[in-house]
Amino acid sequence: MSRILIRGGRIVDAGTEVDTMADLLLEDGKVVGQGVGLSEDGATVIEARGCWVTPGFIDLHTHLREPGQEYKEDIATGGRSAAAGGFTAIACMANTQPVNDDPATTDFIIDRAAHDSPVAVYPVAAATKGLEGKVMTEMSALVAAGARAFSDDGKTIMDSGVMRRVLEYSRLVEMPVITHAEDRTLVAGGVVNEGAVSTRLGLPGNPSLAEEIHISRDLMLARITGAHLHVAHVSTKGGVEQIRIARDHGIHVTAEVAPHHLTLTDEATLGFDTNAKVAPPLRSAEDRDACRAGLADGTIDCIATDHAPHAQHEKELDFREAPPGMIGFETAVGVTLDLVRSGELSPLEWVRRMSTAPARILRVPGGTLARGSVADVTIVDPERVYTYDPAKGFSKSRNSPWAGRTLTGRVTHTIVGGQLVYDVEQGILT
Ligand code: DOR
Repeated sequence: MSRILIRGGRIVDAGTEVDTMADLLLEDGKVVGQGVGLSEDGATVIEARGCWVTPGFIDLHTHLREPGQEYKEDIATGGRSAAAGGFTAIACMANTQPVNDDPATTDFIIDRAAHDSPVAVYPVAAATKGLEGKVMTEMSALVAAGARAFSDDGKTIMDSGVMRRVLEYSRLVEMPVITHAEDRTLVAGGVVNEGAVSTRLGLPGNPSLAEEIHISRDLMLARITGAHLHVAHVSTKGGVEQIRIARDHGIHVTAEVAPHHLTLTDEATLGFDTNAKVAPPLRSAEDRDACRAGLADGTIDCIATDHAPHAQHEKELDFREAPPGMIGFETAVGVTLDLVRSGELSPLEWVRRMSTAPARILRVPGGTLARGSVADVTIVDPERVYTYDPAKGFSKSRNSPWAGRTLTGRVTHTIVGGQLVYDVEQGILT
């Protein structure tokens, strides 16, 4: 029998709406009790004074690059980086090589994760073969193999007829469709947000309209099909407004926002820093503030990192040529606690967006510390200050716009299925 007693922390659990000082007892992979002064009999004790004890974070948008691009990341390193960031479960996108568009690849990812990753890995399968936006994948077979959602993330399904069909079939298998909402004809090669910054840099701009028009189309398709549409990495004010209206009209839509779109603007690209190049791009301060407001009022359900590792030699290319994306597991807590410090989110609402909401969207275990639930637990010291150095992290890649920045708030322990997999002082323990 394995027992862990987490002692003296502040339990912040949006799954049970609890925010209280108490001990938490885990036994044989399950949460068995909460209370003051619980007996430590036979238990490994973790002192959590001054820390928040939360259900493990769940990241429903990541890129692990395996199979095919292991020089950027693999399931082992991505899983370790996730654990160090406090994530106990992650969903990985299908833009691998080969694309995860057939059950054999889904199977491979699940198998590899079971051996190599300290955290649970849920594959998101491609919605169309080869991410080409033309022919639907075989959804039932992919679900049978373990896919938890469908997405052509990284690419946009431009053909509305295909997207309609994808949404219709997703209902039959009861899985969400995650849309990467950027109309390619409007992006038209833009590499930074279209506006004063793109003009100053002399780089082609990607207008917010590209996102807004596409979210609008997908919401209309979600309305007529009744499917569950999940909007990935919302970055625009217009996008947030449309999702808010759609919700009010009863459309089944959920949405996520990435830490970078909550805290950075296109000004971060002024020095041609390719680590700030991402798709969709960093936007204006007005867009960023609308994303923050949308997350605060619940229009946007959750925070997802869009962890997108790329090798140094790729990011050292000219801004137009460098691939978009940034790593995000190990900075997500320090970066997004900014919204708690500012008073935009209470600790409980922050935990809801990091854990409880993504668990419900993916319909996977976790997101709660209720008695009997899986012992996936994250301990966060919200006051711990550190200088972030990606070279000391667990990802194979270092493409972070926060390298060298001082962050406040850090994960001290990550427990998956009742097993301590990360301790800030000792590193990864599996
Ligand atoms: O910036 C991005 N990078 N956005 C995406 O949608 C894909 C991702 C990647 O795979 O690198």
